[in-house]
Amino acid sequence: MESTNNNSHKIILGIESSCDDTSASILCDSKIYSNVIASQKIHEEFGGVVPEWASRKHQKNILPTVHLALKKANLKLQDINAIACTQGPGLMGSLLVGHTFVKGLSMALNIPFVNVDHIDAHVLVHFIDGDIPPLPFLCLLVSGGHTQIVLVQENYEMQILGKTIDDAAGEAFDKAGKMLGLPYPSGPIIDQLASQGNPGAFSFNIPNVGDLNFSFSGLKTSILYFLQKEVKKNADFINSNKNDLCASIQYTIVSYLVSQLEKAIIETGVKNIGIAGGVAANSALRNKLVELANKHKGGAFIPKFEYCTDNAAMIAFAGKIKFDQEKFGTLTDVCFTKK
Ligand code: KG4
Ligand code: ZN
Repeated sequence: MESTNNNSHKIILGIESSCDDTSASILCDSKIYSNVIASQKIHEEFGGVVPEWASRKHQKNILPTVHLALKKANLKLQDINAIACTQGPGLMGSLLVGHTFVKGLSMALNIPFVNVDHIDAHVLVHFIDGDIPPLPFLCLLVSGGHTQIVLVQENYEMQILGKTIDDAAGEAFDKAGKMLGLPYPSGPIIDQLASQGNPGAFSFNIPNVGDLNFSFSGLKTSILYFLQKEVKKNADFINSNKNDLCASIQYTIVSYLVSQLEKAIIETGVKNIGIAGGVAANSALRNKLVELANKHKGGAFIPKFEYCTDNAAMIAFAGKIKFDQEKFGTLTDVCFTKK
């Protein structure tokens, strides 16, 4: 994009560092010009995100990530008019790296910044570009840290209708994968192996916590006890049934997510539905969402893959909405880990 020295085109730098991805993005006039993501491989060997390592890696990655985002947008630091930054929820050490960096940059460049809620930003990716859902809109947000059903109304007002009371859907995939001896994160591997398995081969307990909330801890225990029992009889059980196990576990999780979303459609009467977050990459969930929307004669909205996982484009976009509402951040603002 063209470098500009005036404010006629507001250029926003978005920064995301809530978990293990460092990301920077440039947005101008509602268009994303770059979205750079530095992922951290180190957590794979530990089977999950190690918070101390995550913050150390953010420290190393943040400046090169910002420079690359500017370079890709053909801009310099001085061209930015405002900064948007994730304030929470997330890991405190990780959040602090991005948030403190943004406060410093905002002072150095003498430009405002806004605080962005990470979960709101995940939902708002649907409104960045492409096929934009009409409001009101129901979004199932499913990631490694969150599982929520969110109702988006006029002016992007959001209401959480239900959320997990223990593990998130992504965690359920990852923990099940660990029991099957799969590497972290297991969600995408389960998705891939499931395509060659029979979803009806094994059945696991679908949790029921009433209303629109979720619980995945019962499922985890159900899988663990089942595997322990079968492995006692046949030591090779997991290896020789891996595809069927993946297909059955995926079927259980996806059916549960979709049945809760269907309850929300019936309760609210809202038929335009979508998914967001890392688990939105799951092929079975994508297919089921389309089936559910067709059944209720509504629209199904699925974000681009790069907008499903943690990214700064969603932070820049959510930040733009806050800028337009003049909800600026201050140097005394602090990060938060839970909502
Ligand atoms: O949104 P995300 O990148 O990070 C946060 O947790 O915020 O989500 C990561 C989660 C992981 O649990 C990963 O296993 C899961 O998304 N995931 C998937 C798939 N791709 C990523 N789960 C199921 N199927 C997939 N294809
Ligand atoms: Zn996230």
